[in-house]
Amino acid sequence: MLNATSPAVPAVHDGLHVPAELAASLSARQPWISPKFLYDPLGSKLFEAICELPEYYPTRTEAGIFDLHGVEIAQTVGTGATLIDLGAGNCAKAASLFPLLQPRQYVPIDISAEFLHDAVERLHQRFRHIDMRPLGMDFSNRLDLPDNVREERRLFFYPGSSIGNFTPDEARDFLQRVHAQCGRDGGLLIGIDLAKDHAVLDAAYDDALGVTAAFNLNVLRHVNRLLDADFDIRQWRHRGFYNPAQGRVEMHLEAQTVQHVTWRGGSRRFAAGEWIHTENSYKYRQSDAVELLGQAGFAATRVWTDPKQWFAVVYARAMSH
Ligand code: AVJ
Repeated sequence: MLNATSPAVPAVHDGLHVPAELAASLSARQPWISPKFLYDPLGSKLFEAICELPEYYPTRTEAGIFDLHGVEIAQTVGTGATLIDLGAGNCAKAASLFPLLQPRQYVPIDISAEFLHDAVERLHQRFRHIDMRPLGMDFSNRLDLPDNVREERRLFFYPGSSIGNFTPDEARDFLQRVHAQCGRDGGLLIGIDLAKDHAVLDAAYDDALGVTAAFNLNVLRHVNRLLDADFDIRQWRHRGFYNPAQGRVEMHLEAQTVQHVTWRGGSRRFAAGEWIHTENSYKYRQSDAVELLGQAGFAATRVWTDPKQWFAVVYARAMSH
């Protein structure tokens, strides 16, 4: 149980040296920043605001699928699981499934450790009987679970189409690492955004209020803190659009005028109009998503979608190799 004496969210490091990793990506010929750096405390709040936007359909559509098919989904995945929530954020999605799934143990994991800590404190007030083991860690490169995570009936929960941040090759590797942690009786409940009309995608990632723009630009504030950098945020502009050739939405930051940026151990000149790539969000065809899960060792037992087929919730059981 979460209690006053246990450390709220132990920070687990994955061995990567954050400043070195960031500095290298900023120095690359085509500069980029990993989307995981979008999630500092303010970034996590801005993402919550994105989920409220009329243009940002994924959260609402996925929730609609759970509203409509939750009972059947719970019957399929079973109750009493060890629910491991990958990228838990405010934990709202998992929490809304607690009454149906009745997990024995809840293990929310998020890179935004402070934000997760606050969410779990509140959640534990509401569900005192559920053993909660929050982990503040970056699970994108490795997935090591501490000994206090139950091995029985592991149900990995990866909603929201966060899988889309990986290239398909990276996604397969990641899903293989999840599979390796599933044990004999584990499974994966995953939300996957499906390919759709380009205008819908463009609007979802470049909304009228500019919340997504703020979310994207905020990564520069985070980098300024992490690297002691001096990005002038007012000189950058958000770009978010669907790239049909790659089957993905891309976010970039475009320099409005020439920029000289300095950070601990390095510096760079960005030409006016030069872009920093900050995120990919791949959109899958349902059949491709099922195939990808199969390649990672999962058998996609069930798929639920919304009436417009905009989003898919998939339950896949881990097959032993
Ligand atoms: C959290 C990765 C699923 O790709 O839709 C939202 C992040 N980026 N708006 C997504 C995001 C811009 C989101 N994921």
